[in-house]
Amino acid sequence: MAMPNLVKDAAYTAYESSLRKEVMNGAIPKHIAIIMDGNRRYAEEVLGEPTIKGHTMGRDKLKEVLEWCTDLGISHLTLFAFSTENFKRDPEEVEYIMELMEKSFYEYADSEEVHKRRAGIRVIGDRSLFSPELLKAVEYAEEKTKDYNEVTVYMAVGYGGRQDIAQAVRCIVKKVQKGEITVDDIDEDMISSAISTSDIPDPDLVLRTSGEIRISNFLLWQMAYSELYFTDVYWPGFRYIDFLRAIRTYQQRKRRYGA
Ligand code: IPE
Ligand code: MG
Repeated sequence: MAMPNLVKDAAYTAYESSLRKEVMNGAIPKHIAIIMDGNRRYAEEVLGEPTIKGHTMGRDKLKEVLEWCTDLGISHLTLFAFSTENFKRDPEEVEYIMELMEKSFYEYADSEEVHKRRAGIRVIGDRSLFSPELLKAVEYAEEKTKDYNEVTVYMAVGYGGRQDIAQAVRCIVKKVQKGEITVDDIDEDMISSAISTSDIPDPDLVLRTSGEIRISNFLLWQMAYSELYFTDVYWPGFRYIDFLRAIRTYQQRKRRYGA
């Protein structure tokens, strides 16, 4: 016999709050990076809906994640929204995602919640790949939230970790050419300063949903020392307890291997 929903909900809430309490007693990561994967499979396998709908549900999940970060005091969030490789998908799907992102950047920038929380948004990735409409939306959201750093959300769009390193190298070489620095000045710190997320700490925890155990060219330079966490849950189905479990695992590993 199926458990009545009321009982299930109560048990779920009790578990969630005990997990939250446990997590709040440990070290909270400053920066979490997420590879949000499994949108299409969630729509198709879980809901029997057209795959494209999964992207809208995945977008909606972000609002929840922001609330969880505020609740726990996590100040930096980097999200892999769209990779350079994703441009190779069916043009109809690419267009759908682009329009969804465009709309979402405007909604974000105009949301009361965002201003109340002082949650800034910045975009990392190759902007030459953006349509003029998407670029306008991105610049609008960045401009509207440029003074906010209580929480910083980095959206990786048209992003690739290797491209990020390549653009850092170009930037450093130009300084050498101008005579501002010499080749011997180039060290790890200089590369970190030229990378797209230079103004925030490297991710403490990198999390990927949907059961894929890959990094897929995400923040390659930045995740040198990050803890990695993989979960089978599809992104639109990701719950607060899944997020809390990821952080608890991070805390347990820190306790075992930390300095
Ligand atoms: C992640 O979900 C969203 C993007 C990469 C844009 P997918 O679209 O990769 O969904 P699956 O992994 O095929 O289920
Ligand atoms: Mg995928």
